[in-house]
Amino acid sequence: MVLSRTDPPAAFVFDAYGTLFDVHSVATLAESLAPGRGDDLARLWRAKQLEYTWLSSLMATPRRRRRDFDRVTADALDFACAVLRLRLTRDAKRSLCAAWLSLAPFPDARKALAALVPRPRWILSNGTLASLLPLARASGLEPLLTGILSVDAADVYKPSPRVYQLAVDRLALPPRRIAFVSSNCWDAIGAQAFGFTAYWINRAGVPVDRHGPPPRYVLKSLAELPAQA
Ligand code: LAC
Repeated sequence: MVLSRTDPPAAFVFDAYGTLFDVHSVATLAESLAPGRGDDLARLWRAKQLEYTWLSSLMATPRRRRRDFDRVTADALDFACAVLRLRLTRDAKRSLCAAWLSLAPFPDARKALAALVPRPRWILSNGTLASLLPLARASGLEPLLTGILSVDAADVYKPSPRVYQLAVDRLALPPRRIAFVSSNCWDAIGAQAFGFTAYWINRAGVPVDRHGPPPRYVLKSLAELPAQA
């Protein structure tokens, strides 16, 4: 098939955490459990959670499997509490991990997804299906999604090309016809390097990461996506 540079995306694949779903409520809960330290805890927790996904992928062997995202999330919280010398009870830690199951969608997510119908709209996330499915349901986004893919099917985390390949296999489209949308710059770069047309949602106006080809599009919000795609 010959594609022109202007061919619009035939399908959309979204990152979940921080892209469609706002992780702010995690920081709010952290603040109520550790007054004055909530922001620090949420920030360090998220940074360690991502770092552990990369380390876990690199350390995996056929005999020692990668830890899944629920486990990585709990381990990262434990570490962040230790660094900040926060003595949270087991119940408090459990409720913080459970907060990832009921994140609110970003205010512009619903409208953006609806505007992309009838083109397919998938999630491709580091999360487990056991966590992503209830999240999509609770957030009300489920009816606007065509389906959800978890990295677990590739047994490695983003930005491994094996993860992005899951979407190609499922959608049966050339990578360039797939729009990959993420607020995580490193993920958008991984997707662009793989061959997707990447849309980086840069809500905070931060500089682009430098470890690979820059995302083809940089948007300030999901609201801008339908007009650009
Ligand atoms: C995800 C993380 C990277 O949803 O936000 O895959």
